[in-house]
Amino acid sequence: MTPLTPSEKGAARRSEFPADFAFGAATSSYQVEGAAREDGRGPSIWDTFSHTPGKVRNGDTGDVACDHYHRFAEDLDLLKSLGLTAYRFSVSWPRVLPKGRGPVNAKGLDFYDRLVDGALRRGLAPHLTLYHWDLPQALEDKGGWRERDTAAAFADYASLVAGRLGDRVATWATHNEPFCSAFLGHLWGKHAPGLADPKAAFLASHHLLLSHGLGTKALRASLPGARVGIVNNPAPVHPATQSPEDRAAASRIDAFRNRFFHDPLAGKGYPEEILARALGFLRSVRPDDLATIAEPIDFLGVNYYSREVVEDAPGEGLFDARAVPRGEEHTATSWEVYPDGLREILLRIHEDYHPKAILVAENGAAYEDVALPSGRVQDEGRRRYLESHLSACRDALREGVPLEGYFVWSLIDNFEWAEGFACRFGLARMEVPGGARVVKASGDWYRAFVRGEL
Ligand code: FCB
Repeated sequence: MTPLTPSEKGAARRSEFPADFAFGAATSSYQVEGAAREDGRGPSIWDTFSHTPGKVRNGDTGDVACDHYHRFAEDLDLLKSLGLTAYRFSVSWPRVLPKGRGPVNAKGLDFYDRLVDGALRRGLAPHLTLYHWDLPQALEDKGGWRERDTAAAFADYASLVAGRLGDRVATWATHNEPFCSAFLGHLWGKHAPGLADPKAAFLASHHLLLSHGLGTKALRASLPGARVGIVNNPAPVHPATQSPEDRAAASRIDAFRNRFFHDPLAGKGYPEEILARALGFLRSVRPDDLATIAEPIDFLGVNYYSREVVEDAPGEGLFDARAVPRGEEHTATSWEVYPDGLREILLRIHEDYHPKAILVAENGAAYEDVALPSGRVQDEGRRRYLESHLSACRDALREGVPLEGYFVWSLIDNFEWAEGFACRFGLARMEVPGGARVVKASGDWYRAFVRGEL
């Protein structure tokens, strides 16, 4: 039976989700904290990258970002006022270990202590991510994720944070989207550290996954009761036509985008398509690595924004394939609005990998919001985006996916990596870096949804 699309089943309602389902919003350290040179924080690769002319739109940097480091109490109030029950944030590795390893910055750990206590006081479950792309520059100077030793440093960092926050944080993700860390950062040069080198990208991929395994073991050793997982960004990859060539191209990109970062976690090793094209990276895989990477986890986080449609393109990229634009409706980042892709990928992850639990750790959209003179911010596109994707979650739940939570990206407009402040993803608007937050119409809608008022 062909499943109904979300629209055919009507918009989701709160009552269609389990009572203990987590509704939250997400941020990440470099995108919101600011205070880049304060209280002993060391530089990260994103400080270096954003301060390199030409790398970020309008020369924006995360020096101030949302000034969350100082305004975190207000931001926790904001989460609470939206009726949410969970806050997903990341810890800045160089804020707690300015050189990546060695001397600990007590003031950095104190900040996360205050943040976690503040969240708990407001009834918000802290969902902590250890790595959301801000590698300490000192480790990059020694080869960053191209070096195996960075994975060991990550495990030490995980133990340090666990020792300080483990008594209060129940849910731990090692990484956010290692695919992006590896390929946006080392192959396409769009993100820090800005390399364009396939070998570096594959080495980084392996060491990121290895660090996940080592980090998971480290967290388990100090926190036997914690829920540990990782956040990936899988997406359906559809062929542009039903020709055998396009279907084969879609399968290659699927291996790259999806199976590469899920198969090894599930103990299935690396996909053949990847091994065939992974250049020198195989040399860095040691016999025990795959077992380390497959250390059992408690949940898988899924970040979803859109699908991919690809056609066969001999000679193009690493996989002889090219993305083709599709769809009627697109967000300000030109990403197709394709809500059923979320249902499709959740089902696929469930069927292929059987994680104990799944969280939608990010979902959201950039739009050119309209700030009216009255102070109201209109963002009907975002409201419709969220509603249709929550409906896709509802559909996945009905089809048996063990989905336990949904986090909007993002709580506040913030530093959107290479796009700087030009792309707005927030439920609340921020006019200038570090400025006041104004809840958008979509934020009001999300509150009403979560409270079951719709
Ligand atoms: C994801 C990132 C997040 C944000 C959104 C728009 O890939 O995890 O930090 O940039 O995209």
